Amino acid sequence: MELNKAIQSRCSVRKFNSKKPDWKKIIECIDSARYVPMAGGNYSLKFILVNEPDKIEKIKDACQQDFISQAHYVVVACSNPSRTTNAYGKQGETYTRQQAGAGIQNFLLKITELGLSTCWVGYFVESQIKKALKISKEINVEAIFPIGFEYEKKRTRKTKIDLDNILYFNEYGQKKMKNPKSMDV
Ligand SMILES: Cc1cc2nc3c(=O)[nH]c(=O)nc-3n(C[C@H](O)[C@H](O)[C@H](O)COP(=O)(O)O)c2cc1C
Repeated sequence: MELNKAIQSRCSVRKFNSKKPDWKKIIECIDSARYVPMAGGNYSLKFILVNEPDKIEKIKDACQQDFISQAHYVVVACSNPSRTTNAYGKQGETYTRQQAGAGIQNFLLKITELGLSTCWVGYFVESQIKKALKISKEINVEAIFPIGFEYEKKRTRKTKIDLDNILYFNEYGQKKMKNPKSMDV
């Protein structure tokens, strides 16, 4: 799939059909997260692939979002911030979260390319997730991804925020390019 198509067609799916995805494809999606930039080359992101139904049930309870239990697989993204915070102190905490987002976006685009569906679930009780999956206290649980096939392909995608609302020139809030010629090559 062309990159632009994957970027533009990715969307959150919260209703899955009963078909079980090929777990090896999910591994391919996780593999794509290896290629993102990481501060100082310290790779902090980890993924847990969960297929045990009792664990998926506990994840659903921790997220208080029932649609999660429709999924045969759930991927839990975590970060181990230790090397990054050792190298960069407080700033390292920010880097760890930022690089998790970068890795997750690769993962989401690959999910889209391979015809799978998911939803980024960011609301959860972290202590419950940690208990269910034996994650130690120094690890951050970043996000949770129930994986499946979309129940019914949506014909229309949500319209996205206009470029005009996110782009400024030279200073925050400046929407007009004052001297367009200066931008030319
Ligand atoms: C950090 C973050 C946390 C989110 N948490 C949840 C969540 O807990 N439950 C949920 O259903 N969707 C969650 N979402 C998905 C957003 O609601 C969704 O991305 C947004 O509505 C835009 O829709 P789209 O993904 O289809 O483009 C989260 C997304 C992000 C980036």
